[in-house]
Amino acid sequence: MNIESPAMPYNFADLEPSISRDTLVFHFLRHQRVCYDRMLAMVRGTELERLTLIELIRATERNPAQHALYRYAAEVYNHDLYWNSMGPRGGGPPSGLVGEHLHERFGSYDRFVRDFTAAASEHFGSGWLWLVWRSGTLEILTTSNAGTPLVRGDVPLLALDLWEHAYYLDHQNRRSAYVKAFLEELVNWDTANRTLAELVAGEEARVSAHPRLVAESSIRTAGLGVP
Ligand SMILES: [Fe+2]
Repeated sequence: MNIESPAMPYNFADLEPSISRDTLVFHFLRHQRVCYDRMLAMVRGTELERLTLIELIRATERNPAQHALYRYAAEVYNHDLYWNSMGPRGGGPPSGLVGEHLHERFGSYDRFVRDFTAAASEHFGSGWLWLVWRSGTLEILTTSNAGTPLVRGDVPLLALDLWEHAYYLDHQNRRSAYVKAFLEELVNWDTANRTLAELVAGEEARVSAHPRLVAESSIRTAGLGVP
């Protein structure tokens, strides 16, 4: 099996008081871990066992007969990014490449916060809130239930779980209080900055290998701060 068992990047109590230990224990063990175990049981002994997690998500998304497997795999991926979108003593605006592009796309961090918070409030039911990289810019979007932007060609940079199991013990049904705590006390932009830097470096390498792409790429990367 090419898919590693889920792991938390910090201890269960490290996000207190913003997210309680009980919430993280239940969330990790009763939700992500269960999805992982069910996914494993469904792929064991099949040709799908050789795939990476992202390959598995993309291979199963369009096949209705494999939709349960798609949902479990997507939830493993979504939660991995969610854990890595937070950290102890987090919160506040990003620096680095994400910070530059956030200002370019939204004009200010305050405007990003307003749009991100509004997207969370307007999303009906369970799902996910994302900051993704799409066609050379940042976009905020939501997906329903286990949906993941990976299958739309977007590159997820930041994930926030909008299922009530993510916040009900701490905030009951007050999703906006949970989003506020995420932005002000928890968000960690390191993973987003690393992913975006890899995307930019990959684009530069691709252009170097294919000189005819230089003109095309110079248009797309003009706003990236890439020399
Ligand atoms: Fe969740």
